Amino acid sequence: MCAKVTKQQPLSGVQLVTILEPTATISEQFRTIRTNIQFSQVAQKLTVIMITSAKKSEGKSTVSANLAVTWANQGQSTLLVDADLRRPTVHKTFQLSNQYGLTSLLTTDNTLDYTATMQATMVENLYVMPSGPIPPNPSELLNTSRMNQVIADLKQNFDFVIFDVPPVGVVSDAQIMGTKVDGTVLVVPQGIALKNSVVQAKAALENVHAKILGVVMNRVNSTEDKYYGGYYGSDS
Ligand SMILES: Nc1ncnc2c1ncn2[C@@H]1O[C@H](COP(=O)(O)OP(=O)(O)O)[C@@H](O)[C@H]1O
Ligand SMILES: [Mg+2]
Repeated sequence: MCAKVTKQQPLSGVQLVTILEPTATISEQFRTIRTNIQFSQVAQKLTVIMITSAKKSEGKSTVSANLAVTWANQGQSTLLVDADLRRPTVHKTFQLSNQYGLTSLLTTDNTLDYTATMQATMVENLYVMPSGPIPPNPSELLNTSRMNQVIADLKQNFDFVIFDVPPVGVVSDAQIMGTKVDGTVLVVPQGIALKNSVVQAKAALENVHAKILGVVMNRVNSTEDKYYGGYYGSDS
């Protein structure tokens, strides 16, 4: 793996290192992150989380997709939802159609069942709900009671649900979603993200009382030319 985080390939899929190289160090790190997230909430059952970051191209989709794989590998029925209705990539990563997805659910009434918008993947136990057609008004769509109902439905039917959402800094989508999910993980590309933007992103999430579970450090270790990451609980 030698792609650099800074070398942006907009709207392409991300690398599923946890599928391609399950024994690699980075895959082990994703499993560690999973365990840390699982143990970050002892009092409350953690079913629905979202992955965000301060800016675009910082690794949200990479972390979401690989974490989803590690959850499914544990035998838990897992759903990865592409709620980045501005720059959706999950369907490309898993090579699925984006004809129907989250926006299909949000733009129709209760007659459309969520199962009609999700697809099985090459990973056992892992399902994907793509974004669906990109709408003109993503924030408005996410900020609806229909969205709450969709989340409630998913919560009942999956062991674990991951929402891949837009960055915090640009639009309000992540803040809206932060109020609806059980917990939020912030991706920080070490050495690239400006400290200020991370502080602002954290403040924006705390403003809406989003529960920040922890931070995933994501970066390329240029000397060894491979993926590198780590997880820090929200207290550290
Ligand atoms: N740790 C990493 N090592 C190498 N490349 C990475 C890493 N994290 C992300 N990338 C690459 O950087 C680009 C942006 O990542 P992505 O996950 O799509 O970001 P976001 O969803 O935050 O916009 C993609 O091409 C992805 O493959
Ligand atoms: Mg993305």
